[in-house]
Amino acid sequence: MTRRAASAGPSPPGTLAGKVIAWQRHHGRHDLPWQGTRDPYRVWLSEVMLQQTQVATVRNYYARFLHRFPTVQALAAAPLDDVLALWSGLGYYSRARHLHRCAQAVVAEHGGAFPAGSAALATLPGIGRSTAAAIAAFCFGERAAILDGNVKRVLTRCLGFDGDLALAAEEKRLWAAAEALLPPRDVDVYTQGLMDLGATLCAARQPACARCPLAAHCVAHAQGTPERYPVKTRKLKRGRRTNALLLLRQGERLWLVQRPGQGVWAGLWSLPEFDDASALQQATAAWPGQGEWLPAFVHALTHFDWTLQPLAWRLPTRARRPEGLPEGRWFSRDEALAMGLPAPVRRLIED
Ligand code: ADE
Repeated sequence: MTRRAASAGPSPPGTLAGKVIAWQRHHGRHDLPWQGTRDPYRVWLSEVMLQQTQVATVRNYYARFLHRFPTVQALAAAPLDDVLALWSGLGYYSRARHLHRCAQAVVAEHGGAFPAGSAALATLPGIGRSTAAAIAAFCFGERAAILDGNVKRVLTRCLGFDGDLALAAEEKRLWAAAEALLPPRDVDVYTQGLMDLGATLCAARQPACARCPLAAHCVAHAQGTPERYPVKTRKLKRGRRTNALLLLRQGERLWLVQRPGQGVWAGLWSLPEFDDASALQQATAAWPGQGEWLPAFVHALTHFDWTLQPLAWRLPTRARRPEGLPEGRWFSRDEALAMGLPAPVRRLIED
């Protein structure tokens, strides 16, 4: 059910929402490829891509994705490998798996049409409360509050909300505050305005308060300490991990393995992984051909920094598949590059 307030008048210009709306109309972003449509498929796709990725990166992926999968039906019918291949390099691959499952649920359970309300949208795979609200606001004009990372920053500063967002009760309180601020109409412009403010002026460091339409409203600005907000005590403790990767070549072919459905790079095709360099050295000790250690590199994931030590091994052309090689298959270089590969693995193969 939508909560569109069709007969409501405009937001009073002096309110926070009124200021956001007026600012968005004159200074916000209007040329993004997913604007100017109310097609839930397109809006959903862009919102999922934008969940953890910046606009500049998403632009290209979005165009290519829509070209290959112009409808939710096309996406639902595609093999997951094709979806992962197009997602390759965007990171956070569970988004791509959820995207595929969501498309299949829309086709199988909703006759191919996204449900027209935030509550129903939020039941679909990969659509959280904020993403559901953004889709509902943009496509159906629903008065639903968004609260992604950028918007949390804007609202906590403006309200001087110093509750600890590591606590579920405080997060809930901020959701309630976000809902109370919703304008009676033009929720789509307001929602985009909050996103634009968070992405441009209200930066995490050195926010451009001098140009902000909310400066006169903003408690954090009045306090002179906008960077204190949002407050979140429980910092993610980043771990470290080290593994070795095998870049096995024979003639023009390359050996890839499909990663398990759980864990890092789940479901992607990648190079065989070993516990560490010495495990890889032992595994290859009796193999024909020769190896060369390539420079180790660090790949940053959400929860840990991953040091990867690649070994390039060349098998003689007529050698049989060596003992102890993890399950996988041979690919030509072009076939490999067409698969869903983690970005650092793609770079290794390209080099
Ligand atoms: N970030 C999340 N959603 C967005 C949108 N619709 N436009 C720009 N940035 C966004």
